[in-house]
Amino acid sequence: MKPSAIRILHLDSNHPLLWEQLEAAGFLNEADYTSDKATVETKIAHYHGIVIRSRFKIDKTFLDAATQLQFIARVGAGLESIDIEYAQQKGVHLIAAPEGNRNAVGEQALGMLLSLMNQLNRADRMVRQGQWVREGNRGYELEGKTVGIIGYGNMGKSLAKKLQGFEVKVLCYDIQENVGDAFAQQVDLATLQAEADVLSLHIPWTPETDKMVNAAFIQQFAKPFWLINTSRGKNVVTADLVTALESGKILGAGLDVLEYEKLSFESLFTDDNRPEALAYLLQSEKVLLTPHIAGWTFESHQKLAQTIVDKIKMHYGLAEQIVPEQPRVTGLGGFFFKSNNPKALREWYGTHLGIPVDDYGWSFWWKDAQGQDAMTQWSPFEAGSDYFQPSEKPFMLNYRVSDLEGLLEKLAAQGVTIVGEPQSYDYGKFGWIMDPEGNKIELWEPIDSGFK
Ligand SMILES: NC(=O)c1ccc[n+]([C@@H]2O[C@H](COP(=O)([O-])OP(=O)(O)OC[C@H]3O[C@@H](n4cnc5c(N)ncnc54)[C@H](O)[C@@H]3O)[C@@H](O)[C@H]2O)c1
Repeated sequence: MKPSAIRILHLDSNHPLLWEQLEAAGFLNEADYTSDKATVETKIAHYHGIVIRSRFKIDKTFLDAATQLQFIARVGAGLESIDIEYAQQKGVHLIAAPEGNRNAVGEQALGMLLSLMNQLNRADRMVRQGQWVREGNRGYELEGKTVGIIGYGNMGKSLAKKLQGFEVKVLCYDIQENVGDAFAQQVDLATLQAEADVLSLHIPWTPETDKMVNAAFIQQFAKPFWLINTSRGKNVVTADLVTALESGKILGAGLDVLEYEKLSFESLFTDDNRPEALAYLLQSEKVLLTPHIAGWTFESHQKLAQTIVDKIKMHYGLAEQIVPEQPRVTGLGGFFFKSNNPKALREWYGTHLGIPVDDYGWSFWWKDAQGQDAMTQWSPFEAGSDYFQPSEKPFMLNYRVSDLEGLLEKLAAQGVTIVGEPQSYDYGKFGWIMDPEGNKIELWEPIDSGFK
């Protein structure tokens, strides 16, 4: 089907680029940001696609009325507001955009944690009230603590990446196997509960995760802990959380989502009868509350929209042709490995293999494809070196590249993990990335003459 025959109904307003780019691609766009679900159902049969955030639930009734529907694009991370099984049975393609707000969620989860541990909100409130209390607002440090992440998908991984550099141990528990990576060690739930000082939830809301954090679950933790919930309010039994806050088993809670918020996430109080547990949260100094904004940044507004456009275009085979580009890597720049005695090892290679070693190892000179002098470095590193971190491997490869900045930009856009900040020296520019198996890769845009 050509885009000009595909009618898309936008049920929520989004970043303007979403509409503009779909229009530029030839799709027919219409908006209805106000009609209720029943009204939309009377006309939905005319449309092939819908773009929605969380305005109402896409249930069987809606899907039955949507007789021509080909796709549902949810401008957000999860799809729980859609009857996924029934939509898929009907051949409706489902699109979500967790790539668009995972960074925001990782940053907010970390922000909440630091704020709680350092009493920032309470201290701020007290100063405003004229109270200058230092001892009563003494904080805790993250360093040396163990952070447990439950649900190691888009959001959980984003938080784990942000935790790099805080000198914490990061554990993750997930029902899928082999999801752990260089940023978090996968363990079973009992281990996480035995070791964690912090628990951050990043699970979808499913029958298995509904009310997951209840009294029995909390009691399984060996130590008192801080709780961060940016996933879904109904993952936590608020009354049990309150009991644990009162007893000190939970030291503090950062809640971006609440059991009591509406499915649309747009409001909290349905009437004046506030549940007792909610009343407790609202006055507790150990609790930090935000209105479901973890994924809600200026940047994610744009990234979510762009992800949706790209996925809709891809679904209709309209994604930009991938032009085969020049190889991104132009050669092997270095082979680095840990050694128990680098000096002795270098000498051994010099003596027995005739390699011209110096203090750094061996600079092997060769000619590149243009006939220019090029160099590859071979170096044993001290066993205790932290240069390969966060990789735990005993070796690291360096690849020669021709445009480090451009390449890092492309890699970041493809979701590749970038480590640290690029650095520039007389002998070239350096940047670092991680491969999926936890190998740190050094990228080098060389100035070979710098080594002569
Ligand atoms: N607060 C916000 O603004 C905001 C923004 C984005 C996402 N979210 C929420 O964050 C949560 C995670 O989103 P995501 O995009 O990372 O999802 P995801 O699907 O990428 O990852 C979720 C992970 O949880 C695991 N999981 C599922 N059931 C589990 C269980 N019973 N026990 C342990 N692990 C389980 C899955 O295997 C998966 O690896 C969702 O609830 C999502 O709606 C909230």
